[in-house]
Amino acid sequence: MKKPPTKILFICLGNICRSPMAETIFNRIVENHSAQDDYVVDSAGLIGFHAGEPADSRMQRHARMHGYNITHKSRKIKDFDFDNYDIIVAMDEDNLERLNDIALTLEAQSKIVRMTDYCKIYSDDCVPDPYYGGEQGFEHVISLLEDACKGLFEETRRLN
Ligand code: 4NP
Repeated sequence: MKKPPTKILFICLGNICRSPMAETIFNRIVENHSAQDDYVVDSAGLIGFHAGEPADSRMQRHARMHGYNITHKSRKIKDFDFDNYDIIVAMDEDNLERLNDIALTLEAQSKIVRMTDYCKIYSDDCVPDPYYGGEQGFEHVISLLEDACKGLFEETRRLN
């Protein structure tokens, strides 16, 4: 019998820069491997301040420069996400702390992982928030996420 899909939720603070970029990059890798039936991928934010908005225009522009098109609209994480998703991927230490605070059970907490733990090339320990920084920050986010998403895809494929 076919295994159920692996469900992955990428998380950042506002869900307009890092996590929708991660979702878009991961989906591209899934498509390139014709693995759409094996994954459900989404992203959400820890704050609802930007709910309903498309990705930040700077993130969208840098995404396009690398051949990606971000279509996600921001949404806030909800309790049911901890039941619905298998892997909940945090971008930085603050995301990790907040996720652990709102995860209601040990099982929910056990689903929370750190994005950069899947990097093979970079040794950074977080995907830094690019929101208040310059252009280079958005480029660095894409480089880190391409590395980490590839690692996460390979890891989850191996376990499937
Ligand atoms: P993100 O970036 O967490 O990568 O989406 C941010 C977006 C918005 C805010 C902070 C970070 N904000 O404070 O509104």
